[in-house]
Amino acid sequence: MTVEFPDPNTGEPRPVLKDVDLKIDQGEFVALIGRSGCGKTTLLNVFAGLVRPSAGEVLVAGTAPDEARSEIGYMFARDALLPWRTCLGNVEYGMELHRKVSREEKKARALSYLERVHMGHAAKLWPWQMSQGMRQRVALARTWALEPQVLLMDEPFAALDAQTRKSVHQEFLAVWESSKKAVVFVTHDLTEAIELADRIILLNDGTIAEDITVPFARPRPLELSTTREFQELRRRLIEQIF
Ligand SMILES: Nc1ncnc2c1ncn2[C@@H]1O[C@H](COP(=O)(O)OP(=O)(O)OP(=O)(O)O)[C@@H](O)[C@H]1O
Ligand SMILES: [Mg+2]
Repeated sequence: MTVEFPDPNTGEPRPVLKDVDLKIDQGEFVALIGRSGCGKTTLLNVFAGLVRPSAGEVLVAGTAPDEARSEIGYMFARDALLPWRTCLGNVEYGMELHRKVSREEKKARALSYLERVHMGHAAKLWPWQMSQGMRQRVALARTWALEPQVLLMDEPFAALDAQTRKSVHQEFLAVWESSKKAVVFVTHDLTEAIELADRIILLNDGTIAEDITVPFARPRPLELSTTREFQELRRRLIEQIF
């Protein structure tokens, strides 16, 4: 699959993803890493049906991404909360678009996912009353509450402080373990990629430079990052990126 965008200076088509050939299985947890501008967000946009490849084919849950919309939860890099809805209202909004969920179920589900990101107490707040990290957690709850077959998340934990990030990681792993949906998430944090993912895909200038199976069994110990194997893998990834 290839994606081209017009070059801003010449207008000529310029490849941003080049012959990317990738299969992600149900239940797989994939981290997408690579330098700024290498094509990570573009790849998520392709999966979500927002960007169409100029050559090749993409299937999500067995069909074209456009037709798989209700099976896809996509959390953008910049949170896109609706300013005229409260915290709770924003989480409910995601489910409204899917239209399968009753009012009571919607509220219960929204509150339970807000609890998981430690935002249960803040259900009535408006986006302008929340910090960046709080808004990001609401966006996480909104995406998880859809309970989609495929979860796409673009730098989902980037705005969280180290402590909150650790506990949100654990909550997310619990959400994932209970449903085993396919996850593709983008991160610039290699430790996070290795701690969470089954598989790490390193993009370099629009091509897959590395496709690594993370060799650590689950549940992973909290001190995993202090082991030699972990540090060797991390070093190998750093050498590739920089
Ligand atoms: N709609 C668009 N039109 C033209 N060029 C685009 C468009 N979207 C992305 N690009 C270009 O495609 C390349 C890849 O962008 P992309 O957003 O996928 O990078 P990224 O890996 O997500 O980077 P970052 O880590 O900074 O978020 C960049 O050169 C960018 O300028
Ligand atoms: Mg990006």
